[in-house]
Amino acid sequence: MKNIAYLKIGIIGGGQLGKMMALEAKKLGFFVSVLDPTPGCPASQVGCEQIVADFYDAQKIRELVTKSDISTYEIEHINTNVLKDLAKEGYTVHPSPEVLEIIKDKSLQKKMLIRNNIPTARWKMVEKNLVSEIADFGLPAVQKSCRGGYDGRGVLVLRTEEDIKGALKCDSFLEELVDIDRELAVMVARSTRGEIKWYPVVEMAFDERANICDTVIAPARVDPKICQTASEIAVSCVEALGGTGIFGIEMFLTKAGKVLVNEIAPRPHNSGHYTIEACATSQFEQHIRAIAGLPLGSAELFFPAVMVNILGEEGYEGRPLYEGIEDVLAIPGASVHIYGKKTTKPFRKMGHVTIVDRDINRALERAEIAKRKLKVKSG
Ligand SMILES: Nc1ncnc2c1ncn2[C@@H]1O[C@H](COP(=O)(O)OP(=O)(O)O)[C@@H](O)[C@H]1O
Ligand SMILES: [Mg+2]
Repeated sequence: MKNIAYLKIGIIGGGQLGKMMALEAKKLGFFVSVLDPTPGCPASQVGCEQIVADFYDAQKIRELVTKSDISTYEIEHINTNVLKDLAKEGYTVHPSPEVLEIIKDKSLQKKMLIRNNIPTARWKMVEKNLVSEIADFGLPAVQKSCRGGYDGRGVLVLRTEEDIKGALKCDSFLEELVDIDRELAVMVARSTRGEIKWYPVVEMAFDERANICDTVIAPARVDPKICQTASEIAVSCVEALGGTGIFGIEMFLTKAGKVLVNEIAPRPHNSGHYTIEACATSQFEQHIRAIAGLPLGSAELFFPAVMVNILGEEGYEGRPLYEGIEDVLAIPGASVHIYGKKTTKPFRKMGHVTIVDRDINRALERAEIAKRKLKVKSG
């Protein structure tokens, strides 16, 4: 292999995930360029060269990929056609555009899971007539748009006949409303050499108002047998996809004790941010190792961790003002991450705080305090 200090990594997307990925790539000696529509995006602030362009701009994506030795991405909603062409021409893109194409469309994900006998919630495509198909499927149900959804956008719970009037008007499917005990996630890395490593099972808790992941607890406070099952299921997802890189597998633990796959992210994931402080190798470094064909690092968790997202306060929009950072930095075991986004808006992910502690309950208490103290307003 060439001297890695001279290898160029191209990342499509320069938000917080791109920034944290770039930091790890740079630590290893790679040169990093990003493509992002927002000038001065978070990744550009850590010294990455930036191509300012839309995620569907075929010409600019081509520019990034052709000048990089290895290309990757931090978001799914990008132009896969041009990536497919580039891969055919011999450029290296990980995870592959074929894997991305499956992930980008949640109905293709569901089909892939079912084809591989991976447990997932009962579902049905909406073919033509939404009203009669919902009646057929039965209420309550969850309607999901096939493409374009994230952070709860594109997911609608239908409880009553009345709710059907507000149903999504796009390609979609119905899913049974799962009786969730808690939501779990596992990060799995698979390298170009086929080596696989997985991180501990974590719990994800959601902000009810915005249906956005809010708190991550590592390790999950569930029976070890359930953790074993969830890990096996997560690994089988990545093996079935044949993907290269890091993947976040979101799962439901039902009240009846079953583990069902919800969805798969083909990139570092919010539920894996805790790995930066709490694991031997962070999810971001692991991703870089996986796509560069380097040996994977240990995924061992050294101590419990709780991560809370810092979301933009309701009622504030514009240039962010961070309140309470000093108070949070005074909490033992707290690490504050501010993404450097130029503007805040309600519920936008602006940063996160990870608390590590040998006592998970103490970490939880301290994370609650951090969440209360650190507010993103504007001014
Ligand atoms: N079938 C379901 N039953 C119950 N809750 C669900 C179901 N599907 C999704 N949800 C809830 O909505 C959240 C977002 O759904 P998800 O499919 O993960 O979309 P997104 O792409 O926005 O993350 C989930 O984390 C879960 O809290
Ligand atoms: Mg999700």
